[in-house]
Amino acid sequence: MKSYTLIAPAKINLHLEIIGIRPDNYHQLVMIMQTVDLADRVELKSLNTDDIILHCGHPDVPLDRTNLAYRAAELMQQEFPDAFAKYGGVEITLHKHIPIAAGLAGGSGNAAAVLVGIDLLWELGITQASLQELGAKLGSDVPFCISGGTAIATGRGELISPLPSLEGIYAVLGKYHSLEVSTPWAYTTYRHEFEHEYAQEPATLFDRSQGVHSGNLVKAIVEGDAVKIGGLLYNDLEKVVLPAYPLVSQLRTEFQRHPNLGTMMSGSGPTVFSLASSRSQAEQLYHQVRAAITDPDLELFVTQFCDQGVRVV
Ligand code: C5P
Repeated sequence: MKSYTLIAPAKINLHLEIIGIRPDNYHQLVMIMQTVDLADRVELKSLNTDDIILHCGHPDVPLDRTNLAYRAAELMQQEFPDAFAKYGGVEITLHKHIPIAAGLAGGSGNAAAVLVGIDLLWELGITQASLQELGAKLGSDVPFCISGGTAIATGRGELISPLPSLEGIYAVLGKYHSLEVSTPWAYTTYRHEFEHEYAQEPATLFDRSQGVHSGNLVKAIVEGDAVKIGGLLYNDLEKVVLPAYPLVSQLRTEFQRHPNLGTMMSGSGPTVFSLASSRSQAEQLYHQVRAAITDPDLELFVTQFCDQGVRVV
């Protein structure tokens, strides 16, 4: 039986701006996303039955269709019935290293890996753009997780424009193991508090979403200027998550007390990250935060920016 092993990396948001609401009740976003080298490993094996079987050793990861990786396999089965009939079902094993419900797109990355892996298992030869279109049916972050690197994401987050690679920059990530933030909660709460500020006119929404291309953060990325990038980090969801989760706010303050290039929450949180210009600065920051917060529930990771999303090993 054929098998593939894929690496599914985490992402952080260098910029997350909510500009309006869409007819489908999702938010219109302008984001700049960055892949980091903290990653899950996803193994895929063809089965000679028509089952989809999911394994994962993590106690909090569901093994049924509530898991996006399972739904990714189901979607491929629906979209390519002839290949499914020819090649059979699939056994998926997730080796989790990315914290769950963390704002790091771990679940979306697993689903992205399943799409890429089944394309290979079933010898479909689907283009990356078409895989991303399929990914958008599963979740807003899945298309970015397929291509990865550094990119602007607009629309729901599914429209991706690649930016030049930022390899060489480091990010230290911090997350309390037992603390999770629900993404729907974060967006719904934001809407309650800030809907009056949303852009209404389609032309204004379009201008705001296109404006990012000529904005200062994109300029800094094109110049590869890590110091400027660190000074321009932005996330609208901090406005609702930090007041509701004092531990996240305290962790962010602790990161900021030590030398680094800039600190922000990723996605809907609760992961907080700081950028560093070298591995030694990142490791120093890791030890400083670890020494200041002795709570064993706090997980810290030294990661490096990388220039691609899901890859086969
Ligand atoms: O697309 P995905 O299923 O990952 O989104 C999770 C939740 O985040 C949605 O159900 C919605 O509440 C919120 N969301 C949003 N607007 C977006 C993306 C996500 O409101 N553009």
